[in-house]
Amino acid sequence: MTKIVNSWNDFDPLKHVIVGRADHSCVPPEEPATSEKVPIDSPMRGMWGPRPLETVEKANAQLDNLARVLEERGVKVDRPSPLQWNQPVITPDFRTGSMMTCMPPRDTLLTIGNEIIEAAMSFRCRYWEYLAFRPLLSQYFNEDPEFLWSQAPRPRLSDKSYKHNYYDERISLEERLVRTANKDFVTTEEEILFDAADVLRLGKDLFIQHGLTTNRKAMEWFKRKYPDFRIHAVNFPGDPYPIHIDATFVPLRPGLIINNPHRKLPEAQRKIFEKNDWQIVDAAMPAHKEPPPLCYSSVWLSMNCLVLDHKTVIVEASETNQLEQMDKLGMNVIPIHFRDAYAFGGGLHCSTADVYREGTCEDYFP
Ligand code: NVA
Repeated sequence: MTKIVNSWNDFDPLKHVIVGRADHSCVPPEEPATSEKVPIDSPMRGMWGPRPLETVEKANAQLDNLARVLEERGVKVDRPSPLQWNQPVITPDFRTGSMMTCMPPRDTLLTIGNEIIEAAMSFRCRYWEYLAFRPLLSQYFNEDPEFLWSQAPRPRLSDKSYKHNYYDERISLEERLVRTANKDFVTTEEEILFDAADVLRLGKDLFIQHGLTTNRKAMEWFKRKYPDFRIHAVNFPGDPYPIHIDATFVPLRPGLIINNPHRKLPEAQRKIFEKNDWQIVDAAMPAHKEPPPLCYSSVWLSMNCLVLDHKTVIVEASETNQLEQMDKLGMNVIPIHFRDAYAFGGGLHCSTADVYREGTCEDYFP
């Protein structure tokens, strides 16, 4: 019996990780939590169903290559077991035409120490996504006597969980930014809702983005679940679509974080870092003007890197500005091509979930 699950942050030496798979991925139909994410002029608008097979194959080739690069560096890699996502989700509270994918494991699984929590996700199309990871979690449970396998309270995702008519394509970008500043998001406080990728783990401190995919009730749940931790609700006012913290605020090593220059951490929260001698550096500008086709994320996936240890980071190979900045910040950079995977749910950090990093629960902000 060995210790399999342990991870307290995103930068200690990575030893074991899950890398997603794109098989059977679908564009889901619109639903209350998602309809705005498809730009009005996108070919995805109004369309849903299985993604084109050649795009799935290209994404899988890059995901397999990521797995290979990690294994060559001594990191153990596990892969999920995709379901046939092109099936409706039907519960007593809602029905939606298809599921989505299990490509971005970072959204679904949150590792805190020896615990992995299946998140309380707000998208109806992602309701069953955790099932793709069950064979792995079951194996960890059988092999690691200390592994805590948890699931956040399952949300019902009834109509009460969303503000209706929140998304209206006539709303301007400026109005969206006002909504973010006012913390006016599509989800209500009816029940606990969060995506794991909204949670930034820094030892005893969890910085949790309040936005379109994570609500206040989730913060309260984390406070009660982890009474010895400090839970910080963070907002980034410059983000018109605040979903997931890992293209906004990305730690590289103890004492160093890159922050999206369009989505700056507010002054009051910067103080927590500055008081403890952490440096917050504006991230380099993305090399691309547009995300790839059929992609939900922004060009800021440039920042969505995978840190292997305090000196080593994997960055998308065409993100030349980000590569250069990492180098200047003293990191050894491993460039790998990954843009074909972006449309399936994000970048290098999104596409992985920590199982084991060396290290313990540090107090970086005493
Ligand atoms: N909402 C983010 C995705 C982060 C992985 C962005 O598109 O910038």
